[in-house]
Amino acid sequence: MLVISTAYEFLSLITFTLGLCIATLAALKSFTRISPLSNRVEPIYIAILALTVSLWSFMPIFRNNMALSSLWQWISLLVLVISISWYTIFVCNRIMPLESKYHRILWVAVILLVIAYGGLLITSGDNLFWNLSALLAAGLILAVDAALLLITAYRIKNTLYKLAAFSLAALAVSYTGGLWQPSTYWHIISLAGLIIYVIMMSLAALNNSYMRSMEYMNQKVEEVRQELAAQNENIEDVVITLARTIDAKDKYTEGHIERVSQYAVFLGERLGLSDRSLETLRIGALIHDLGKVGIDLNILNKPGELTAEEFEQIRLHPILGQQICSPLKSLQEVSDIIRYHHEKLDGSGYPDGLKGDQISLHVRIVAIADIFDALTTERAYRRALTVEEALNIMKAEAAQGKLDSYLLTEFEALLYDLGVAS
Ligand SMILES: [Fe+2]
Ligand SMILES: [Fe+2]
Repeated sequence: MLVISTAYEFLSLITFTLGLCIATLAALKSFTRISPLSNRVEPIYIAILALTVSLWSFMPIFRNNMALSSLWQWISLLVLVISISWYTIFVCNRIMPLESKYHRILWVAVILLVIAYGGLLITSGDNLFWNLSALLAAGLILAVDAALLLITAYRIKNTLYKLAAFSLAALAVSYTGGLWQPSTYWHIISLAGLIIYVIMMSLAALNNSYMRSMEYMNQKVEEVRQELAAQNENIEDVVITLARTIDAKDKYTEGHIERVSQYAVFLGERLGLSDRSLETLRIGALIHDLGKVGIDLNILNKPGELTAEEFEQIRLHPILGQQICSPLKSLQEVSDIIRYHHEKLDGSGYPDGLKGDQISLHVRIVAIADIFDALTTERAYRRALTVEEALNIMKAEAAQGKLDSYLLTEFEALLYDLGVAS
């Protein structure tokens, strides 16, 4: 029957049970992958590590209950030291892949000590001197592992690895300390060191796996975002190309949309608008006359005055333009510019007769740029007006409450700054 009579045996039982639990959980974790980035290897290493810790802590509990050979004890210690060294090197190598000279020296030292330790175990038999030497070698290997892990933990400022390194150091000290003064305290320290090491390394592995999954998710989100942005750009490009084609067909207005777009963006910049607003102005101005695609070319290019009926057709272009863009989500922000660029602040504009605050800042800016460019370029029924003549007409409109007088003042100052007006 199992007898737990000392604190050492009690701690052994806890270590044994916790080791088994961690091994089971780690084995299960290796079967559930959140993302292709979470690897299956690390949980398996953790499972092996936790199992060997269980194996090692298993002995004090059963020592008095079963006759365990010294060979069994030595083998379980060898397996424990190898699995700790293996996993520590695996972790350190992943974080700092043999980049520093010290790292390489420690790496080689661990491998040589493991070989020496194994050799000592095989040859020692029941010889006390060789047995103690083997125990010393085990302590040294763990000390080197602890140093390696500590350097890595400080390099990446990881508290879990730091705690694991300190508990590994405690384990190494307890092995060598137990050589010159064997006592239960050293055994308790070694068990506590072991269990803390395994718990910290498992938590760190879990955290790494979570971080990698988050990285993967973020990467995917960014990919989808870029793909959507590229699609939006494609749609915008198509619409802008269409607008340029329409613009080119109208012999009186060629280059109109490019100039309106430039003036609108310059005015927006002068007013300190955000990058997003400037982009809305740029695209909105480029496609504001898109609806002209639905107007008879003969009417658009007709020399002389238009009849009332023909003018009615032209007045439809803001509505047509908005209807063309309405299914395109990426163009929703510019839709107001297309529909309302012929509205006047006093409600005398078209197509909806909006008034005052119903007309947004973007629309007012494009309207001013649009009117100015229309006045300063030649039309079938009149010559191109000079900048001063155009500004005078626009000021008269502002005085009648049709145009935003503040924006017009800023626009005039802009024209002076650009050297367009003098
Ligand atoms: Fe227009
Ligand atoms: Fe226009």
